[in-house]
Amino acid sequence: MKATAIAHPNIALVKYWGKRDEELILPHAGSLSMTLEGLSATTTVELHDGPEDTAQIDGRPLAGPELARVVKLLDAVRTRAGLRLRARMASQTDFPNAAGLASSAAGGAALAAAASWAAGLELPPTDLSILARGNSGSACRSIQGGFCEWLPGIAADGTDSYAVQVAPESHWPQMRMVVVICEQHKKKVSSREAMRRTVETSPYFEAWARCVRTDLKEAKAALLARDFATLGEATERSCWCMHAAAMAASPSIFYLRPATLAVLDRVEAMRASGLPVYLTIDAGPNPVLLCLEGDAAAIVARVEDVPGVLGTTVASPGRGVARTEHHVF
Ligand code: PMV
Repeated sequence: MKATAIAHPNIALVKYWGKRDEELILPHAGSLSMTLEGLSATTTVELHDGPEDTAQIDGRPLAGPELARVVKLLDAVRTRAGLRLRARMASQTDFPNAAGLASSAAGGAALAAAASWAAGLELPPTDLSILARGNSGSACRSIQGGFCEWLPGIAADGTDSYAVQVAPESHWPQMRMVVVICEQHKKKVSSREAMRRTVETSPYFEAWARCVRTDLKEAKAALLARDFATLGEATERSCWCMHAAAMAASPSIFYLRPATLAVLDRVEAMRASGLPVYLTIDAGPNPVLLCLEGDAAAIVARVEDVPGVLGTTVASPGRGVARTEHHVF
């Protein structure tokens, strides 16, 4: 009763920001992302008849709320499989030291798959996505590869809130995301807390929710038509709407750092000089640049000398979660 899964992180083109249900992790609106090849989390789960669940990430044992999130997912799997066994879980990420990417999306997806396979369940992607969502919202978009849309759903129990693949990685293999690392510290305000504060106090939250609908429609159509400029514009709009709504919360949430703004300046200069490149930023200071394969090297060269930039990682559209025999333990 041991299984190992490998999953990749994803970066949202149209952001998820704000929950309608904190416990079940149900979003107010849909979102659209690209799964990133080259970066991965590998998670092994073994079920046993010992006294308790244990979990570790990159050798660090989890406790408190972090462990509780893992146990919550394990409980959902145990209920489904009719098992009472406890679990040992260990996860290893291969993100380059300075990737500056939250491992939660890849980790949540790998955990959902490994736990259900260890329990003997063969769940369809939608069910795995729902399980992953319960660990970390954005993780539901890492079950499948390529480009995925998280359907917000309307059901109170979350059974219709999962991610579906809009297009596989083969749809647009030339797409690239350049992750620009400006800072490696843990973010000041967690996305969980920041979302809650935005929903409760930001006067722009409703406007944000309205924008998502238009951006999502436009981004999806552009993605399917391989219209890079329209997709890039929708991606930037979604990023700024999310950050504006967060900035207007009380107390304000501001993730951008001087180096982030310097990269933004550089992106505008590159675009003015005819290089097609667009930017998005998650709940942190590290910009992610959207570009096409042929331009990636030139873009990396032009952001690497921006003061405050520590490094870059280039990723292409990645695969969905998969089984592997390379166990972590
Ligand atoms: O799923 P979480 O709690 O890691 O939140 C993700 C929030 C953003 O990365 C900012 C947006 C997104 O859609 O991934």
